[in-house]
Amino acid sequence: MEEMEKNVHVLNHPLLQHKVSMLRDKNTGVKDFRQIVSEIAALMCYEATRNLSLQEVELETPIAKAKVKVLSGKKLAIVPILRAGLGMVDGILDLIPSAKVGHIGLYRDPETLEPVEYYCKMPNDISEREVILLDPMLATGGSASAAIQFMKNYECHSIKLMNIIASPQGIARISKTHPDVELYCAVVDEGLNEDGYIVPGLGDAGDRIFGTK
Ligand code: PRP
Ligand code: URA
Repeated sequence: MEEMEKNVHVLNHPLLQHKVSMLRDKNTGVKDFRQIVSEIAALMCYEATRNLSLQEVELETPIAKAKVKVLSGKKLAIVPILRAGLGMVDGILDLIPSAKVGHIGLYRDPETLEPVEYYCKMPNDISEREVILLDPMLATGGSASAAIQFMKNYECHSIKLMNIIASPQGIARISKTHPDVELYCAVVDEGLNEDGYIVPGLGDAGDRIFGTK
């Protein structure tokens, strides 16, 4: 795993790079795109949950009594940023089926590139949970930054951000405005075009997941 700033983890694993390349291909159709986004989310989840705490319990194997490690039950919540973040939910729930799911609805105004909020629903005990925010794309960082602030307003103290493709500008923005947030991305791209799209990127993640263009 490559390290940039202390809070930024660029995973760059060969499996991730291969799958991200498949997403980038404009000929990859909706069904495959959705499936690959989910697979990438599961692989990234493996890394982003590396520091989950464990506790020792006793059990009996068919051979002997044993002291073994299990998750200590620290509560997790995953929070997809609608719409595109929804594509990452199932891959994570496959690994952590008991995680609660909150939702934040944000879209990026195409003129100003500023995030506009339209929906929010969180588990009641969200402030006690470790939060993983999900969004495939970190472009200007406006949406992610707003979503993080949102979670902080809910008094969440442990927040991770998981993006598949990040731009250097987005990473810089999150590191500056929310240095306490651990940012996990699969790859970092060159930059942004004049419309605020990541280059080379994969296009509009929401449209490609849901087939709306
Ligand atoms: C996309 C993406 C992020 C945001 C990234 O969502 O999923 O949420 O843009 O851009 P930013 O870093 O410059 O804020 P979009 O606004 O297209 O909404 P959608 O998921 O509903 O398609
Ligand atoms: N949102 C996307 O879906 N793609 C980008 O490249 C930038 C923002």
